[in-house]
Amino acid sequence: MRVRTTGDAAVLDHLKTPSAIVGYLDQYVIGQEEAKRILAVAVYTHFRKVARARRDAVPIAKSNVLLIGPTGTGKTLTCATLARVLGVPFVTAEATSLAQSRFVNDEIEAILQRLLDGADGDIDRAQHGIVFIDEIDKLKAPGGEPRALSGESVQHALLKIMEGSMVRLPGGKYVDTSGVLFICGGAFVGLDRIASQSHTYGYISTSKDDNPAILERLNARVKPTDLFEFGLIPEFTGRLPITARFRDLSRDMLVRIMTEPRDSLYAQFRDLFAAEGAELHVAREVFEQLADLAIEYRTGARSLRGLFEELLAPVLYQLPDDPSIGKVVIESLFAEPQLVRRGAAAT
Ligand SMILES: Nc1ncnc2c1ncn2[C@@H]1O[C@H](COP(=O)(O)OP(=O)(O)OP(=O)(O)O)[C@@H](O)[C@H]1O
Ligand SMILES: [Mg+2]
Repeated sequence: MRVRTTGDAAVLDHLKTPSAIVGYLDQYVIGQEEAKRILAVAVYTHFRKVARARRDAVPIAKSNVLLIGPTGTGKTLTCATLARVLGVPFVTAEATSLAQSRFVNDEIEAILQRLLDGADGDIDRAQHGIVFIDEIDKLKAPGGEPRALSGESVQHALLKIMEGSMVRLPGGKYVDTSGVLFICGGAFVGLDRIASQSHTYGYISTSKDDNPAILERLNARVKPTDLFEFGLIPEFTGRLPITARFRDLSRDMLVRIMTEPRDSLYAQFRDLFAAEGAELHVAREVFEQLADLAIEYRTGARSLRGLFEELLAPVLYQLPDDPSIGKVVIESLFAEPQLVRRGAAAT
């Protein structure tokens, strides 16, 4: 039998270093430097372990990752971009929909089936993919009462596959999840309050030589006990030894998100306008105004697209009918867009 060189072998052979991974992420994800580094090291280490497990036929001691951060700050984006740079199949699932289904295991099989589909049916590749489970914080009990039963049973079901098990798919094929990296994400609203109250259990300075920066970092860590108090079962938090925090996006970061990434909103719309034969110019002030609105909406960067599209919709309505428009200039949210006709001054 011929040994096929599969996609995951490519990952293992050409695994980028953590800094190269971060360099790639930087092209798409603005800010979140600490989280990007932690994730890059986590995936790098994971695929190294996978390679070693293959070579020496030893089990993989997995380190799945927990991402904590407010909505719309780049958690899903970062994971999807990571999977792209690594060239591994990637699926996302919502913990809440797992909790709502009557048969959790069917849902879990469906997730792994999607992973296999993402690997074009190549089991080997699927077994080294990344599964991102969002809204993991919703598996806690509503209204402070400790741990709703359904949420807890979902955590138990997830435990098994996160650690690594053989899962039989509806088609009869088996997927071994021991090489699959699980990344869980959630906003964990209220976790900071819990953490600050549990601060006394953190590290305290024992000698004046202790490096305050390191102490501060240790104390800022999210502790498994905090997650437990939040409502996740200890066995579950124990399977997520690595945590990375995503921070609220500042006004400046929101402006950069609209303008800097390779596929930024601005770049996308400039392309769209160019296809209609017109140049689009949006002043920096406009992006700042949009960022202010986005901050007000409290959905991270998520509302930016809608706001931007709303701004440009009237022009995009007019543009295809009027080939004489060569340039569109927008200087403020509160001013009409200027339509510059070919060979003429602005109107
Ligand atoms: N740090 C960032 N850099 C670039 N774009 C970002 C960033 N954060 C958010 N965005 C933009 O906002 C959109 C939503 O972000 P994303 O889906 O990653 O949020 P999330 O953190 O997963 O939120 P949720 O907790 O609601 O799932 C992205 O598709 C992207 O366009
Ligand atoms: Mg998300």
